[in-house]
Amino acid sequence: MSGPIYLDYNATTPIAPEVAEEMLPYFQAHFGNPSSSYASGRHNKEAMEKARMQVANLIGALPEEIIFASGGTESNNHAIRGAVFSNQQKGKHIITSEVEHPAVTEVCNYLEKQGYEITWVPVDAFGKVNPAAIEKAVRPDTVLISIMHANNEVGTIQPIKEMGEIAKKHCVLFHTDAAQSVGKIETDVNELNVDLLSIAGHKLYGPKGIGALYIRKGVKLENLIFGAGQEHGLRPGTENVPYIVALGKACELAKENLDGNKQHLFQMRQRLLDGLKGKVQTGIKLNADPNNCLPNTLSIAFDGVEAHTLASFVSSEVSFSIGSACHADSIEISPVLKAMQTDRKTAAGTVRISTGKFTTKDEIDRAVEIISETVNKLV
Ligand SMILES: Cc1ncc(COP(=O)(O)O)c(C=O)c1O
Repeated sequence: MSGPIYLDYNATTPIAPEVAEEMLPYFQAHFGNPSSSYASGRHNKEAMEKARMQVANLIGALPEEIIFASGGTESNNHAIRGAVFSNQQKGKHIITSEVEHPAVTEVCNYLEKQGYEITWVPVDAFGKVNPAAIEKAVRPDTVLISIMHANNEVGTIQPIKEMGEIAKKHCVLFHTDAAQSVGKIETDVNELNVDLLSIAGHKLYGPKGIGALYIRKGVKLENLIFGAGQEHGLRPGTENVPYIVALGKACELAKENLDGNKQHLFQMRQRLLDGLKGKVQTGIKLNADPNNCLPNTLSIAFDGVEAHTLASFVSSEVSFSIGSACHADSIEISPVLKAMQTDRKTAAGTVRISTGKFTTKDEIDRAVEIISETVNKLV
């Protein structure tokens, strides 16, 4: 990869070469409408169904339980709005957590204005939701529990399996936003006891603007949009075949190499952390529990260093995210760090560095040099 060392794979990933190769013919040679009954349409319908199978295989689902969408945001919107609108007779109560992505929190905020009641379950200092708190929040009128599988900012993995059991016991639908976990760790819908699961293509080496929603057989969802009969009538509109094919290939690759990739992500993150620990002349605080975290994600703060200052000094050489937005004369702490009750200084110093399958040892070693040199100048 050219340009600065890329260590922001949680923001997005480059498209894998195998994925690009697979999708390209669908822009020109294979342009048929998959709803057309002649050969080019049928070819594309088959390509789409193959992709559906590849997505389903990665998460232990049936192909007919997968619908394609424009990404994680749409999948979350469809799961949440679709589930609550089709269960209005049961009630108007939703349970979620304080550390969800805006693609969940903003849907809940919108629904609150529509008369729904939201219970925002708090998290511990590592950003973890306690399943007992979920169970305590369940009421007879609870229609949906939505808890993310892994957090995008700090990487914390939620005890989805346990929460899924609780949801099942109380006959409440359970959705998980798995945009950050799919392709990085095992994500099996039956293991996890989920009814609905969101996938974002660009987090697993597929293109931006494509995703999928898993809908357990028998679960009824209202549509977000209305039109013709594509995607079992649930997500009408002529399908984005090249991107669907790409998502399928990305899922196939992720399944084939899950263990190897996981190990690589972890080794690169560990090399980075060990390198930084050995070189910086200040304390390093870890925001997540390293034993319960995505293998690629390092959310850390260097004592006495503001994240945006560090990021701006190194931005021409290394790309990573900062945990809190910086405005003209103030720092806005991220809602996730706020929910974790991270102290203000740590929050203002938090950077999120996330490795990927293309990260090399050499990149990590150079990033360690660049970051530690700058940190040591700033403290
Ligand atoms: C946890 C999580 N959910 C949802 C999304 C949104 O996905 P998309 O960008 O595909 O709409 C993201 C992307 O940053 C994410 O990290």
